[in-house]
Amino acid sequence: MSELLVQMEGIDKAFPGVQALQQCQFDLVEGEVHALVGENGAGKSTLMKVLTGIYQKDSGRILFKGNEIDPKTPKDAQDLGIGIIHQELNLMPHLTVAQNIFIGREYMSGMFLNIKKTNEEAAKLLESLNIHINPLIKVQDLSVAKQQMVEIAKALSIKTDVLIMDEPTAALTESEIADLFRFIRNLKNQGVGIVYISHRMEELKQISDRVTVMRDGQYVGTVKTEEIEIDQIIQMMVGRIIYEPPKTQSTVPPDAAVVLSCKNLNSPVVKNVSFELKKGEILGLAGLMGAGRTEACRLIFGADPKTGGEVYLDGRKVEITSPSDAVEHGIGYLSEDRKRYGLAVGLSIRNNSILAHLKNFTKFGLVDDKKASKVTDEFIDKIDIKTPSNKQLVKNLSGGNQQKVVLAKWLIKNCSILIFDEPTRGIDVGAKSEIYKLMNELVREGKSIIMISSELPELLRMSDRIAVMCEGALTGFLNIEEATQEKIMKLATQRRQ
Ligand SMILES: Nc1ncnc2c1ncn2[C@@H]1O[C@H](COP(=O)(O)OP(=O)(O)OP(=O)(O)O)[C@@H](O)[C@H]1O
Ligand SMILES: [Mg+2]
Repeated sequence: MSELLVQMEGIDKAFPGVQALQQCQFDLVEGEVHALVGENGAGKSTLMKVLTGIYQKDSGRILFKGNEIDPKTPKDAQDLGIGIIHQELNLMPHLTVAQNIFIGREYMSGMFLNIKKTNEEAAKLLESLNIHINPLIKVQDLSVAKQQMVEIAKALSIKTDVLIMDEPTAALTESEIADLFRFIRNLKNQGVGIVYISHRMEELKQISDRVTVMRDGQYVGTVKTEEIEIDQIIQMMVGRIIYEPPKTQSTVPPDAAVVLSCKNLNSPVVKNVSFELKKGEILGLAGLMGAGRTEACRLIFGADPKTGGEVYLDGRKVEITSPSDAVEHGIGYLSEDRKRYGLAVGLSIRNNSILAHLKNFTKFGLVDDKKASKVTDEFIDKIDIKTPSNKQLVKNLSGGNQQKVVLAKWLIKNCSILIFDEPTRGIDVGAKSEIYKLMNELVREGKSIIMISSELPELLRMSDRIAVMCEGALTGFLNIEEATQEKIMKLATQRRQ
C-alpha cells in the first residue's frame, strides 16, 4: 500500500469579494500523478498555494505524512519537501538561467559565489533533462516556452516528495510535452507524488492515475482515470459540453478581397515571409517552438523592426513602425505572453480593457467611467470573465481569466485584422469553445484573423487555411479541406534547402 503523502480537509479561503475555496478536500499518495481540473477560477491554483504556504487557509486541516502542518511561507513547504511550479512564470528576468535555477542555493567558494560551479551544475541538470538551453542566457531573452522549461528544471533540481505542476504544458509544444511526461514518469517511479493541473483534457488519460474535479471553489469528486471517460470529467467540471463543429471546408468566398498582404518580410529571425489574408478568413499559423511565428507577426504589428519587406492593407502599402501605428490601421495583437505584453496586471479589468483605445472613452480629457464600465461589463458577460466586478485588479484573477481580459481588450477596440497568438492557452474547455464561437462570429462580421497555435486540433477546428513555418520561413500552405495533423507536422519539420 502506497503511503499517503498529503491530506487536505475542509479547506476554506476567501479573498475580498470572492470565496475562492469552500470546504475543499484533496489527497495525494506516493508515486501517483493526481490531476486537478476545473474551469478557470475554480480554485485549483489557490488550493495548491494554500498547500505550499503562499496563502494561509481560513479553516481546515492539512496533513503531511500523517502529521498536521501549517506552512506559513513557501520556504516552510519546501523544507518539508513540497515543491511547486507556478502557472504564472516566476523567474527573475534579468538573471541568467543558471542563476535562476539555483537562486538562494548558490554554490559558494568560501564567502564568494562560485559562478563557474553554478553554471556547470545548471548545464548538467539541463542536459539530464534533455533541455537545450544555454545556462548563461538571461531569462528575459527566452521565449515563454523556454522560460517554462527553466521553471521545470528549477523545480526538479530540488529533491521533493510532492511536486505540484500548475499548467506546466500550457506553453509547450508536443515534443516538449513528451519530454516532460518522461520526467514525470521517472519521478513517479521514485515515489514522488505529483499534482498535475491542466486544461488539456487529452493529457489526463496519458499521465494521470486519479483526477479530482473542482467547481466554483468546491470539491466535486475524485475518480480513477482508467475508470472514467474524458467526457464524463468535463461533465463534472462544467455540467455541459458545447463545441463549435470543426471546419471541414473554408467559409471564405473565393472572390473575397485580400485585406492584408505581406511581401518578403525579413528580420534576423524571419526569412522572406510572404502571405495574404482575405476578408473573413481565419489563417492558422502552425510550427514548432522557435519557428518564428510570433516573430513574423510582431513585424506586421510593428513591435520589432524589420530588415526588409512590405505590408499592404487593402492593396495599399503601409509603413507600420510601432504597435500604435498598427492599432491606428485597425490591427490588433493578442500576445502569447499576457504578463509581458498583454496586460497591466496592477490595474483593474476595466482600465486594462480600455487601455488600447483610450480615445474612445475620454470626454474633455477625462475617462468616461460609466461608458468604460458598461462596455467592460458587456464583455465580462459575453466571454464569462469570473470576477466580482470590473474594478478587480487583473493580478487577482485566475490565469485563464487574465487571458480573457486580453481578449476583451482587443475585442472592444473593434479591429478589422486580429492576430491571436495562442489565444486559448490556459483556458478551460468551456471558455475555449466560447472563444471559438466568438472568433467565428468575428469573421462572419467581416473581420480577418491570423491565429498562431501550437494545438493542432485547434488549428484544424478553426482555420480556413493553415500556413506552416519552420526556422523562420514559410514551408507551405494547406487548405482546410486537405489539412491533417501529419501534413502539418511534416511541413513544420521541413528544413529549408
Ligand atoms: N490574490 C487574490 N486576490 C483576490 N482574488 C483572488 C486571488 N487569487 C485568486 N483569487 C480568486 O480566487 C478564485 C480562484 O482562483 P484560482 O486562481 O485558484 O483559479 P484556478 O482554478 O487556478 O483558475 P485557472 O484555471 O484560470 O488558473 C478566482 O475567482 C480568483 O479571481
Ligand atoms: Mg490557476
